[in-house]
Order: sequence, then structure tokens, then C-alpha cells
Amino acid sequence: MTVLAFFLLLGVVSASSSDHLSRSSPAILNVPQSAWDSLRDKVSDRLHAGYPYGLPCYSSYQNATGIHADAANTDICATIQAGLLQSPTLVTDFGSYHSPSFGTCMATGEKCTLSPSIKENPMAGTCYQGSVPDYYVDVRSVEDIQATLAFADEHNLPVTIKNTGHNYQGRSAAPHTLGIWTFNMQPEILLDEDFTPEGCPASVGPVVTYGAGQMWGGVYDFLANTGYLIVAGTCPTVGAAGGWVQGGGHGPFTPTYGLGVDNTMQMKVVLPNGTFVTANRCHNQDIFFALRGGGGGTFGVVTEVTTKIHKDTSFTFASLGMALPVGAQAVTEIFVENALKWAEEGWGGYLGFGANNLTTFISITPKISVEEAEESLRPIYEYFESVSGGTIPFRKNITTLPSQYAFQNTPEARAFVQEGIGSMIVQSSRLVPKETFQSQESKKALVDALVERSQYGALLVTPYKYEVPDSDRPGGLGQSSVTPAWRQSPWHLVYQEFFDPADDQATAPDAVAGTFRGVSTAMDKIRAMTPNGGAYMNEGDTYEPDPVASFWGEENYSRLLKIKKELDPKNLLSCFKCYMWEFPAYPNEMELTAFDEAPQIQTIPNQ
Ligand SMILES: Cc1cc2nc3c(=O)[nH]c(=O)nc-3n(C[C@H](O)[C@H](O)[C@H](O)COP(=O)(O)OP(=O)(O)OC[C@H]3O[C@@H](n4cnc5c(N)ncnc54)[C@H](O)[C@@H]3O)c2cc1C
Ligand SMILES: *[C@@H]1O[C@H](CO)[C@@H](O)[C@H](O)[C@H]1NC(C)=O
Ligand SMILES: *[C@@H]1O[C@H](CO)[C@@H](O)[C@H](O)[C@H]1NC(C)=O
Ligand SMILES: *[C@@H]1O[C@H](CO)[C@@H](O)[C@H](O)[C@H]1NC(C)=O
Ligand SMILES: *[C@@H]1O[C@H](CO)[C@@H](O)[C@H](O)[C@H]1NC(C)=O
Ligand SMILES: *[C@@H]1O[C@H](CO)[C@@H](O)[C@H](O)[C@H]1NC(C)=O
Repeated sequence: MTVLAFFLLLGVVSASSSDHLSRSSPAILNVPQSAWDSLRDKVSDRLHAGYPYGLPCYSSYQNATGIHADAANTDICATIQAGLLQSPTLVTDFGSYHSPSFGTCMATGEKCTLSPSIKENPMAGTCYQGSVPDYYVDVRSVEDIQATLAFADEHNLPVTIKNTGHNYQGRSAAPHTLGIWTFNMQPEILLDEDFTPEGCPASVGPVVTYGAGQMWGGVYDFLANTGYLIVAGTCPTVGAAGGWVQGGGHGPFTPTYGLGVDNTMQMKVVLPNGTFVTANRCHNQDIFFALRGGGGGTFGVVTEVTTKIHKDTSFTFASLGMALPVGAQAVTEIFVENALKWAEEGWGGYLGFGANNLTTFISITPKISVEEAEESLRPIYEYFESVSGGTIPFRKNITTLPSQYAFQNTPEARAFVQEGIGSMIVQSSRLVPKETFQSQESKKALVDALVERSQYGALLVTPYKYEVPDSDRPGGLGQSSVTPAWRQSPWHLVYQEFFDPADDQATAPDAVAGTFRGVSTAMDKIRAMTPNGGAYMNEGDTYEPDPVASFWGEENYSRLLKIKKELDPKNLLSCFKCYMWEFPAYPNEMELTAFDEAPQIQTIPNQ
């Protein structure tokens, strides 16, 4: 644990408790009906009770106010069950989470399970509220957000912001909170070829501007015939303006054009005190710094983002794969040996060794030709050919694609979208810096660790070769708060585990905690060999042993804490694993039992 984190822990002891939002008797259950009625008026009836997505599939339902019989609606349940493998369907409901167990209470096992493996309709048993907020406002305007935050402030209610529910650490769910659901804030996307951020002296060139609920799929469709591309995630249902960019934001074009935070030109945000501000490199730079890397759900409710776009050109695409009859050793050596070369060549995408010994390399690069790519990737396919004397078929497709849109529509990119849907994904990750790939000794240690782990994925989505403009360098007005390790690392290494939310053994509290802890400790070996590495919070480890150093670095973290304290002195926007000053009196339920050893940075030091 870092020195700073140690002081933060001390801060818990001395924190004043009078203002704290209490969990022992959640304030949200004591708000008088007349107060709810007046909020409902202010937000044009868009105040609702939050229900778990699976509720219509159960015969009874238990929330904070009691047990409710006759909950089932078999028609609605049938529709829900039919859509469980459809990400675009899953994101449309407030009570639905992409990694479904985040909507449950993992510490007690109280859940409202949906799974493709369950066919009964309705199911006997009880659907529990779990971690789904009791009430939420389906916000459509700045005024809706302001009214909701003012209400939360008046009644001391912790607020959970939810957009698509993709978050891998459960940050868009929390029990007994007031939800702000941004998903339906989807105004028309605007393209401006010559955009000058508010209050700035000069144009930054072509941009698109979109709302809080916009998903990447919509942005891809919008840009399809414009001649422009954008740095964006491959999954079309990840939100463009929410957690993705506020935590960093990567995609296959990151090696060429930088992270989401690097391409963000302007953000509009409702601060916790209700003030609506515009932040960019010329204006409110502290807020702009915090909103680009500090993490979603922490500093305010972002309503609109403006992002740089780039000339779309044809580029080289490579897709290689083989189910190897032998283990990972040889192919892992090839991946590690070539990591720096491939990073120099601009490859953006994914490589890995997965279930059934399936080896994959799927990437794009605008920097080298198909002929050069054939040469560069030769070690992979020559190895494939050498296996069993070439009698086992393998996939090799190295070709030119005309546009970003064409890449998004390859079967390879589409397959990413399906990964893990319907099951719970538990993961840890590490940004592996270049020095790891520079000595024989460290390369061997890395190969050994990966082979021992067996299944791993390396995302080639780091801005390792991207040149940060002067304005965004440390000390510059446009600096972002993501860990500097991003820019030193050719690999974003990910370990994952999956479990079926319907598996009672796997979802028992001890088992869940064991799975999270297991995937976390599996990464310890890599952490130990990468002291200058870091980690991506959006695809991070729930048990990350040193979140301050891994996600931001000490200096940037203390600046973030200062900004948080100023913007949100009451900590209305407090979410699980948001790290900036969580409530001592309001840990997520998971912390209470199942996650007893999780690192906690609960409160702010007096500075
Ligand atoms: C299938 C899948 C694919 C992914 N692919 C990629 C990828 O290619 N690249 C990548 O970088 N990441 C990827 N991720 C990770 C992704 O960036 C995170 O899950 C991210 O948190 C999602 O943000 P969201 O707004 O869509 O989801 P949510 O879970 O709704 O929100 C995430 C966090 O942001 C906060 N938040 C949401 N909206 C706002 C807002 N308007 N203002 C303030 N806070 C807000 C929430 O409170 C929460 O803390 C992927 C995740 C999944 C599940
Ligand atoms: C609990 O569920 C009941 C029945 O649907 C609903 O009327 C009530 O608003 C819910 N209470 C809370 C606190 O969410
Ligand atoms: C994967 O490789 C291992 C050798 O390391 C082998 O024992 C196993 O049978 C292989 N599995 C498959 C599905 O090919
Ligand atoms: C290679 O990939 C492209 C893009 O998906 C596809 O159009 C083409 O048919 C593929 N070629 C082969 C030989 O698989
Ligand atoms: C913050 O991060 C940057 C890189 O993004 C790093 O160089 C710098 O030293 C860190 N600290 C501060 C206060 O900028
Ligand atoms: C809200 O917070 C911001 C940032 O701290 C501050 O500049 C502004 O004056 C505050 N507004 C009100 C109404 O207190």
C-alpha cells in the first residue's frame, strides 16, 4: 500500500460523521412521499422505482419495502429471456447490467437471476432488489439532472450514475441510492469540420458532438459515409460519453490516434452542486483533467462530449487463428518476442491464447502495407503451418479494408460484441511496459507467467507510439489524469474468468469472492515484474492491490482528490470502486463480507 493510501485510511478515523450518508438506515427509505411527489413534478414524471431486470420472471419480489407477490409477467419475461444474448436489448433497461451479477448483492447472494441457461417462465422463488438503486430519474435534460442532484443533496441521498451498465467493477449499481440514468439523453449527433472549443482562440479541426447516452454503434453509423473515423471501442453498445472516456477509453485506433481522453476536445457537465459548466483546454481545466481519466460517476454528470475525428483511409487488417493441439508456449514466445515490433508498426487490436488452446491475432494498422504485414506476422503463421506438418487448418487473412466501418462489420469485430454476454465476467489487467520486452530475462519471465496462467488476452490498444501534443503533456493545460503507464506500454494484458449467474455454487458469496480474488492474485506475478506498469480502471481488477499507483500515479491522484473535495464536498457521487473518497459509513454491500480484504480508500485527507 502506498504512503498516500495509508494517510487516506487514517482519514477515515477522523472523518466527521454528521453529514455522512448512512447505510444502517438508508436515507432513501425515509424520504416522505410528498417530497418524492414534488421531485416527480420537477422531472416531468420521469422518477421511477428501480426494478431488477429479471423481476417479471419471478413469482415474488422483495425490495426494501417488503415482499410483493404476483410479480411475474410471462409475456414480458419471454421477451427478456429471448433478448439475453442481445447486447443492444440489455442496455435499454435501467435494472439491467452487462455483467449481470453487478445488479445483485454478491455479499449475501440475494439476486434476481437471469441466464440463457434458465428456461422456466415464470421461475419459482424470489427476485431480490440486490444492488439496483431503489429509485431513479430517467434524465432527459440538464434541468432534470439539476433537480435530481438538488434533491439528493437536500435528503442526503448517495447518487449512482448509470448509462449502459457495462462497467466491469459494478460502479453503475449500488444499493439504496438514487439513480441518474443518462442512457436516454441521445440528441442528434453533430459534425463540425471546424470546431473552436468555447473560449479557445483557435479551431481544433473536425469533431463530432454527442449526448450522454450515445453509444459507439450510433457514432459509427453516423460517421459511416462522412470520410472520418473516430477513436472508439469495438463494442457498439459501450457508451461514448460515460465511463469509457472518463476512465481513459481505448480502441483499435488508439496506437495511431491516442486514447479517448486525448481526442476529447470539450465536455459539458452538471457539477454535484448543480452548476452546469463547459470544460476544455481553455476553460475549467481542472474539471477537464478530472473528467478525462479520473473515472466515471465521480466528479459530475457529463451531458455532452465533443471529440476529434480523423480522415478515414484504407488500412491493413490481419486475422489469424488456430486451435492448437499443444499448449501456449511456442506461440506465447512469438507474441512476446514481437511485441515491440508490432507496437512500432501501429497494430491495434487483440492477441491471445484462449479456451480450447485457441490462438488469435486480430488487428489493424494504417502504418504498414499488406506485404509488410505478411512479412511481420510470418512467425505466427509459419508456426501454425509447422504444427502437424500443415495438416490442421488455420485462419490467415491479411488484407486491406477500406474504412473503419468495414472493420466494425468484419465477423471478427462482431464476435467481440458477443463475448461474455449472459455470463458474469471477472477480470484483472496490467499495462505491461516496454522494458519487460527488452531483456531476455524479463521476456522469459513474462512467457513463463503467461504459459502458467494458460488463458490470457493482450489488447494492442495503447498509445505507446502516439505523440502527445505539447498542450497535453504533464503541466500542460490539456493534461489528462490517466496513468502515464499507458504511454510506455505496448500491451494491455487481461485475465478473465466467467461464471453463469444461474450457477448457485459459483454465485455463493464465498465462491464469488474467491473468483474475484483468484483472478486478482493470478496477476500478482506480472505486477511484480512490472513496477513501472499500471492498469486500466475500466477493465481493471476489483481487488487491485494498489489502485492509486496503478490507475493514476500518486501526484495525479492527489490533484484528483483535491478537485473531488472542491466539487463534491458531501460526496453525493460516491460509487463502488470509484476510489475518490468512498463513505466509511456507506461501503458497497460487497465490501462488508465477501470483499473483506479489498483495498479501501474511503475518505479525503484534510489538506
Ligand atoms: C463488452 C464490453 C466491451 C468493452 N470494450 C471496451 C473497449 O473497447 N475499450 C474500452 O476502453 N473499454 C471497453 N469496455 C469497458 C468500458 O469502457 C467500461 O465498462 C465503461 O465503464 C462503460 O461505460 P458506460 O458509460 O457504457 O457504462 P456504465 O456502466 O453505465 O457507466 C460506467 C461508469 O461511468 C459512470 N457514468 C456513466 N455515464 C456517466 C455520465 N454521463 N457522467 C458521469 N459518469 C457517468 C457510471 O457511474 C459508472 O461509474 C468494454 C466493456 C464491455 C462490457
Ligand atoms: C418496492 O416495490 C413496490 C412494488 O412494486 C413498489 O411500489 C415500491 O415503490 C418499491 N419500493 C422501493 C423502496 O423501491
Ligand atoms: C491444449 O494443449 C495441451 C498441452 O499443453 C493439451 O494437453 C490439450 O489436449 C490441448 N487441448 C486442446 C483442446 O487441444
Ligand atoms: C478476409 O476478411 C475480409 C474482411 O472481413 C473478408 O471480406 C474476406 O472475405 C476475408 N477473406 C478470407 C479469405 O477469409
Ligand atoms: C501525472 O501523469 C503524467 C502523465 O500522464 C505524469 O507524467 C505526471 O508526472 C503525473 N503527475 C502530475 C502532477 O502531473
Ligand atoms: C458550484 O461549484 C463550482 C465549482 O466548485 C463553483 O465554481 C460554483 O460557484 C458552485 N456554484 C454554486 C451555486 O455554489
